[in-house]
Amino acid sequence: MKITLTGITKSFGEKKVILTTSLTIGSVSFTTLLGPSGCGKTTLLRMIAGLETPDTGEICFDDRTVFSSEKRINVPPEKRGLGFVFQDFALWPHMSVYENVAFGLRAAHNTRNLDEKVRNVHRLLRFYD
Ligand SMILES: Nc1ncnc2c1ncn2[C@@H]1O[C@H](COP(=O)(O)OP(=O)(O)O)[C@@H](O)[C@H]1O
Ligand SMILES: [Mg+2]
Repeated sequence: MKITLTGITKSFGEKKVILTTSLTIGSVSFTTLLGPSGCGKTTLLRMIAGLETPDTGEICFDDRTVFSSEKRINVPPEKRGLGFVFQDFALWPHMSVYENVAFGLRAAHNTRNLDEKVRNVHRLLRFYD
């Protein structure tokens, strides 16, 4: 999936955090946002995920517009179909490792062969219970 940002800006109050930014992230590519603390990396990622709303501009996933200030489009995060690993992980401390992995699958009603899917992730992470 290609991600395209066009003319994105974002301020928090008086503070301009993202100056006009246009960026294309190619399909099946690995992209790194590099910059000093506070330069806006997380804010940019959160806008792509739909967790923050840009002030202006457009965000497209392939040909699908998920945000457009002009066209008044703002697809909510749960309908964007993206994965997002937070800096502080946001795991559920009261759940087992198994239940943390199963949580997203259950939420997406993707529970066919749940046990196998969870154990495949455990294998990938080299976690053996
Ligand atoms: N919800 C918010 N309210 C006010 N200011 C914010 C908010 N989120 C981020 N900021 C400010 O925006 C700037 C960019 O933050 P951030 O995107 O987290 O930077 P980075 O991830 O590059 O360290 C920082 O000055 C930060 O304090
Ligand atoms: Mg950050």
